Amino acid sequence: MNHKRITHNTTKILVVDDSVPTLEVIQRNLEAAGYEVFTSPGVEEAIGFLEQNSVDLVITDIKMPKISGLELLKYVKENVKGTEIMIITGYPSIKGAVEAVKNGAENYLVKPFTDEELLSAASKMLEKLSNRRAVEAKPLPSSHNIIGNSPGMQHVYRLIEKAAATRVNVLVSGESGTGKELVARAIHYSSKTGSGPFVTVNCTAIPDSLLESELFGHVKGAFTGAQASRAGFFQIADGGTLFLDEIGDASLSMQGKLLRAIQNKEIFMVGSSRVQKIDTRIIAATNTDLNRLVQKGLFREDLYFRLNIVEISLPPLHERGEDILLLVQLFMEKLSKDMNRPAPRFSDKVLQIFKNYRWQGNVRELENLIQRLVVLADGDFIDVADLPEQMRFNISWRKGLNRLLAEVEAEHIANVLNSVKGNKTRAAQILGIDRKTLREKLRRANLPTEIG
Ligand SMILES: Nc1ncnc2c1ncn2[C@@H]1O[C@H](COP(=O)(O)OP(=O)(O)OP(=O)(O)O)[C@@H](O)[C@H]1O
Ligand SMILES: [Mg+2]
Repeated sequence: MNHKRITHNTTKILVVDDSVPTLEVIQRNLEAAGYEVFTSPGVEEAIGFLEQNSVDLVITDIKMPKISGLELLKYVKENVKGTEIMIITGYPSIKGAVEAVKNGAENYLVKPFTDEELLSAASKMLEKLSNRRAVEAKPLPSSHNIIGNSPGMQHVYRLIEKAAATRVNVLVSGESGTGKELVARAIHYSSKTGSGPFVTVNCTAIPDSLLESELFGHVKGAFTGAQASRAGFFQIADGGTLFLDEIGDASLSMQGKLLRAIQNKEIFMVGSSRVQKIDTRIIAATNTDLNRLVQKGLFREDLYFRLNIVEISLPPLHERGEDILLLVQLFMEKLSKDMNRPAPRFSDKVLQIFKNYRWQGNVRELENLIQRLVVLADGDFIDVADLPEQMRFNISWRKGLNRLLAEVEAEHIANVLNSVKGNKTRAAQILGIDRKTLREKLRRANLPTEIG
């Protein structure tokens, strides 16, 4: 038994094997990769260690002289929360591996394995663990109900704070569904004038004929049908914030009127020659690149410069890493409260897909998907088969070119198997190989060959 003292913040792995040389090799490899490694020559000692210490991952041999690794698997599953376990098995004892998987080992490694295979299997298990921890952690609202701890979002929080301390105009940009309106509200409500009005104008929605009266109001008798005076958006937002949503869609005529009002800080109601001072902070939002519109002559440059005194650009969801899982947790909690039933669990594979998926509709798409999954779920467990088709087959779009052929192959095989619900004959047909080759490839990739 290795009696090193446990330090904090490193990932800890306990390796259990009756062969000292094997233990030494594994330890050396894992330590070289930056893990903190403890070793144990048998199940009894390992359980003794786990009673006193917590680790992130246990890697254990199955076949050991005194007590089988399967007993350790059982012990960990039943008694140790938040620890993953990986089984090492000698080929061809696939039967043992199948039993191990049935008993809850999420992965196993077939002997003999290379250093890369060991490290890749360990890091996959640990990533699963950290995904699971992220979804199970209570998401803390980081700033005004905006969830996310990724560096991109932390930068956004700092800009929100800075903008809130002033009255300058702000331009919020980002793809559809990234939370632009949420950010606009956060700035408003955390500013000194947060108790003033927050008024939203959708720039797409106002026909040019009504523009002026909608924006600046009109006096009684200003035009046929104007039976009473009516305030416009600028007056309603006086003392607070005017949120110009979809500013990129504003017509050139609207842009001209906005520019004048913002520049002069005064307006005329339609039908009146009396000038009115207005004190409104402008926050504009866009999901198109305004700069490009300016270059194309579709957006006034002078208005652009007035609006983007501070620009806050929201990162797309797929660039926010584990924030995705925090949001899953948030939406699950909201939903299960609304529906008054316990939140279903997501399989590790599903969480991994969530992290890798290119969310075109960003947070809104994620929120809608979670709703749909929860409402339609039959049981309390959601797996890959429950996902929409384009997600199941889109698993690896972002991983780039820096990957081993074997990894890409394994993933493709797993995807195909998923799509045919584990039917090996069908999968082999689709892949253009025979069943024996498929089995061999599954074994190489540490994918179950007998089940699933
Ligand atoms: N970081 C976040 N934390 C929690 N909820 C979020 C976050 N970002 C967005 N949402 C939620 O996602 C939904 C979409 O956000 P919002 O309406 O602010 O996006 P948007 O960028 O204005 O989208 P669009 O361009 O389509 O108008 C809202 O329900 C919002 O509450
Ligand atoms: Mg919006």
